Amino acid sequence: MIRPYVIIVSEVTLDGKLTLYRGASSKELMSLMTKEVYKYLHSLRAQVDGIMVGCETVRTDDPNLTVRYVEGKNPVRIIPCSTANVPYNANIFSKDAPTIIVTTQRAPEERIKKIQELGAEILIAGEDLVDFQVLLPILHQRGIKKLMVEGGASINWEFIRLGFVDELHIIHLPVVVGGENVPTLVGGEGFKSLKKILHFQITNHFVIDNFLITEWKVKPLAKSKN
Ligand SMILES: NC(=O)c1ccc[n+]([C@@H]2O[C@H](COP(=O)([O-])OP(=O)(O)OC[C@H]3O[C@@H](n4cnc5c(N)ncnc54)[C@H](OP(=O)(O)O)[C@@H]3O)[C@@H](O)[C@H]2O)c1
Repeated sequence: MIRPYVIIVSEVTLDGKLTLYRGASSKELMSLMTKEVYKYLHSLRAQVDGIMVGCETVRTDDPNLTVRYVEGKNPVRIIPCSTANVPYNANIFSKDAPTIIVTTQRAPEERIKKIQELGAEILIAGEDLVDFQVLLPILHQRGIKKLMVEGGASINWEFIRLGFVDELHIIHLPVVVGGENVPTLVGGEGFKSLKKILHFQITNHFVIDNFLITEWKVKPLAKSKN
């Protein structure tokens, strides 16, 4: 299958959490990040053709998904959203960058129309949830050769589960949040088997203002060996 090169990028606490509690915007935690750390994050955005977050992240965080802390071109914003349930005043509808809402046959016609009126494009990929096996070749064909996935936990799991990930970049937030039900880097069902888990090779690590940054590449050989 021809697909974009996929880089998952996330800000994660020392105990692996994405946010303060289930349902909380991660913007609160991200406010701990310094300008230099934001520059690192935005320099990654400037190097990709497309940027994706799940629909739940749009609803809770209302991100812009643009390049602001460094010079660079904004990537195309791609939002998987099975019933096109995106707030019409969301920042992803700003004119700063093109936006694609990827939805399914379940999306009501009136939502599709409204989103198109807001200037975003609609793509249908899947019947129940957005089907990334259908979507990724379409994105590649449309010039999205490098895709950055910025969460949340459910979308990260879909990419990991399907093996559609090439790199993982983590900004380690130097705090501990705790909490059993707080979303972690990867949600979903989990592999539940040592034979199935994904292996990574560290390729780079450095510290910016007490924030450890680690960069990893998927190890395909280790995965198939087990
Ligand atoms: N620290 C960080 O770097 C970071 C980054 C991003 C998010 N977050 C946090 O993560 C939390 C949100 O994560 P989340 O896991 O709840 O949601 P998410 O991954 O952002 O979005 C999941 C939603 O995407 C839609 N979807 C469409 N197709 C899907 C598919 N094939 N598989 C899975 N979902 C699909 C579903 O919504 P529909 O039913 O509407 O289709 C689903 O509920 C928030 O608290 C946010 O603040 C943190």
